[in-house]
This record gives sequence, C-alpha cells and structure tokens, in this order.
Amino acid sequence: MPEEASRAALAQLLRWYADMGVDLAVDDAPHDRFAESQNLERAPAVQPTPRRAAPIPTRTPASAPPPSPLAGIAEAAKARTLEELQAELLAFEGCGLKATATQLVFADGNPQADIMFVGEAPGADEDRIGRPFVGRAGQLLDKMLAAIGLDRTQVYIANVVPWRPPGNRTPTPLETGACLPFTRRQIELVAPKILICLGAPSMQTLLGIKEGIMRSRGRWMAYDRAGTTIPAMAMLHPAYLLRQPSHKKFAWQDLRELAKKMREI
Ligand code: URA
Repeated sequence: MPEEASRAALAQLLRWYADMGVDLAVDDAPHDRFAESQNLERAPAVQPTPRRAAPIPTRTPASAPPPSPLAGIAEAAKARTLEELQAELLAFEGCGLKATATQLVFADGNPQADIMFVGEAPGADEDRIGRPFVGRAGQLLDKMLAAIGLDRTQVYIANVVPWRPPGNRTPTPLETGACLPFTRRQIELVAPKILICLGAPSMQTLLGIKEGIMRSRGRWMAYDRAGTTIPAMAMLHPAYLLRQPSHKKFAWQDLRELAKKMREI
C-alpha cells in the first residue's frame, strides 16, 4: 500500500475506534488476546502449585472476571462521612470505568443542601477537572438553577457513576449497579429533602423506572432515603437539552414544579 493510502486507512481505523468509544489506550503495548486464549487452551488442566503466594494486584487486571455486583455494599456502608465515602470509592475496584477514566469525579456544591441533583456520568471536561457538570451541559445546568434563584452553593451535585465512560457512552446497567451502593450512601449522607434525577440512566438507577424519560419527567415520585421517604423527580438532562433546544419548555415546567416544592418543604 502506498504510504499516503496507509496513513488514510490508519486515520479511518482510529476514527472508527473513537466512534465505537475506544478513545484511549489502557496499556503501553498491545496484547494479542487471540494468541493468549490459544495458549490457555493448550495449557495443562492442573497447574503446578506456586511455591510463593502471588502478590495481590492493586488494580483489577483487564482479563479478571467482573466483580460481584454486591462488591460495593459493605464498603459504602462503612463510610460515616462524605470524605470517607470518597476514600472508599477511590479504593473501589468493582467498576471497570475506573481503569479508563483520568480521575474520580465525586461531587460539587453544598453537602448541607436541601436539594440534590444526580446526573449520568462525567464527560471529558469533568474527567479532566475532577468536578461534575463543568462542561457545556454544566453551564446550562447553572442557567437552569439561576432561573429559579439557585446556584451551586444551594444544591449538591453528583452522578450515578463517578468515572467517565470511554467516548462519553451511556454507562451500562452493570456499571451504574456497581456504583449504586455508593450513590445511595452519598444521598443518605447529604440527606437532601428533594432529589432530582437528571436524565434516564439516573432515573432508572435511583427510581427504578423502566419507561422513557419523556413519559416520566416532571412527576413527583418517592425515594426511600434510608427509611425516610423524600420527593424525587426526573428531569431532562441538560446535555439532551443542548441537542434538542425545543424541549427546554419541558425543563422550564419541571423547574417550576421544583420551585413550588421548595416553597412547600
Ligand atoms: N453529564 C453528566 O451527567 N454529568 C456530568 O458531570 C457532566 C455531564
């Protein structure tokens, strides 16, 4: 293949990887997994006992089986404060997203707030800066808050997964489920009086709603915050509103509902 053509083919392949969500390398050298699995098949069924115990790996290797979905429950329950919960999450190896994210994106805003917003997952800006909702969607969220007289000093903001999914894809139910004990504990420790789920993954994960967000948004539902029932509502995600500005009218209706509830509590 002439050099120019091979360069174009490589660029096309990289673009395809990026479109599929493969947008960063997780290791220095490529691995031939086909050769590795053939070697495994050829390996003797009974392995000789190693003379010394292997060191315990500090990170889950890419080939390890997925951790049990129950993995985080005990760790999350141990946390008595938000700082302890953040430390537990930093040590948690039960969600594969950690391996490809730059850093943990834990929360922003006021931990004493009466209103807690829970979004979907950090994007590229949040992954770089380490705070939720700092990109374009976050700027729109700030404007939405300002429309009902709020700012980040009066609300607490987190996500259902604290690590950026590669290529900004939607987190899978396995990933949101692995992080759920931590998200629920975070809500318990903040103890908001109102919970707002931004977008379908947050609504599905925290409120167990299976139907689409266009049908469920704007309705008050009940969230069980460790034995205390608090009002919860799903709203359209600001990133979606950036793509569908004609739907901002629904967000405005929902914000007015929120403002009304704030006056009641
Ligand atoms: N979208 C989210 O759901 N969360 C963020 O933190 C940023 C964008």
